[in-house]
Amino acid sequence: MALDKSYKLVPGTTIFDAEQSAKGYHLNQFCMSLMTAENRESYLADERAYLDAWPLREEQKRALLDRDLNAAIREGGNIYFLAKWGATLGLSFQQMAGSMTGMTEQDYRDMMVGGGRSIAGNRIDHAVLEAAHTDRRAPKGRATVTGAVFTSHVPAIGAAMDHHKTDEPYWRPVFEGYEFSKRWERENLPDVIVLVYNDHASTFDLSLVPTFVLGTGAAYPTADEGYGPRPVPGIEGDPELAAHIAHTLIQDDFDLTLANEMTVDHGLTVPLSLMFGDVERWPCKVIPFHVNVVQYPVPSGARCFKLGQALRRAIESYDRPLKVQVWGTGGMSHQLQGPRAGLINREWDNAFLDRLVADPEGLSRVPHLEYVEEAGSEGIELVMWLIARGAMSDVDGSGRTEVKHRFYHVPASNTAVGHLILENHPRGETPGAKE
Ligand code: DHB
Ligand code: FE
Repeated sequence: MALDKSYKLVPGTTIFDAEQSAKGYHLNQFCMSLMTAENRESYLADERAYLDAWPLREEQKRALLDRDLNAAIREGGNIYFLAKWGATLGLSFQQMAGSMTGMTEQDYRDMMVGGGRSIAGNRIDHAVLEAAHTDRRAPKGRATVTGAVFTSHVPAIGAAMDHHKTDEPYWRPVFEGYEFSKRWERENLPDVIVLVYNDHASTFDLSLVPTFVLGTGAAYPTADEGYGPRPVPGIEGDPELAAHIAHTLIQDDFDLTLANEMTVDHGLTVPLSLMFGDVERWPCKVIPFHVNVVQYPVPSGARCFKLGQALRRAIESYDRPLKVQVWGTGGMSHQLQGPRAGLINREWDNAFLDRLVADPEGLSRVPHLEYVEEAGSEGIELVMWLIARGAMSDVDGSGRTEVKHRFYHVPASNTAVGHLILENHPRGETPGAKE
């Protein structure tokens, strides 16, 4: 199903969606720069020079120099952002809005005093709407979720790789657990990975604590977590698929935060290193998906599991033939704080892995208290695994899931390392695909 963008048919109206937001990204960010008196002053001193310092298209600069707000909106500008530019020029909202109507300022004011523009003659042309609905083009293909990878994301694992210590006796057993995985990942390379992880106070500090963040940007650099950025490539996103997922999930009542710019920390880069090894660039696109597990309240296992199910529906409604993996990272048992630091619970971890495979629905009802008590305060990261598990097609009976690999080892730093690979086989998989 293509996205329903019927809102484009409302006459004289531009809805600011992900498509417009991408088109107008720098234009809107330029407007934000006018929120200091100093920048407003230098803009007014030489508009052209100020605009030339921003990566704007000529059409966008022209729109502003010509005071043409319709053109600025067509070019991706949003009125609340453009209002900062208008305010800089001394314009009120009424002057800005009126300037887009083809009316004189006085006529527009008079119209508003007289009760405003009438809805009559300003509705969607329903013949056009119906034609648009019947003209849904046949899709070129469908994206499919091909598998899920679950793994701990301990920073010390990344450091061991970056400092060439993987053959040391302490580390060898950890990396041996990923030998099969690297081969499997090479043979089953997806086009895109939706990588569920938690940012560890690297991009999101206490000024903003969003629960679920979907990365809708084109690229994400590696975070400097205090030791200098890891010497690994930044990641390339997939803004189009991410925008589709955002649109679909938000319409499905999952209220996501969208991030066009952010850095990615060990939660995301360590799993990539484990699965791809030491590479010049990551061999596929990655859409980061951050879950808050730092400050309570954090989302429940049940919410994460449902989100995973909605995520698969979103991916599978994308009409390009992409192979998509969903990864869940963090855990297993670990506690990084207080007198109970160092807690490991092998029995609970292994029961978690058993249930993740065989009874994810039941596992999703386990309350936070049990994670904290049994798996340590930072063991709560494991709720994120339920997102990736929810994205497998056995959950709603539309396919089956196959366990390809399972690994468990203690310790890596303060943590038990857990790892699982599930292949997803939707019913009606293309003939010739591996069964
Ligand atoms: C460790 C594990 C983590 O998952 C993390 O985010 C930070 C540290 C550790 O075991 O050292
Ligand atoms: Fe972590």
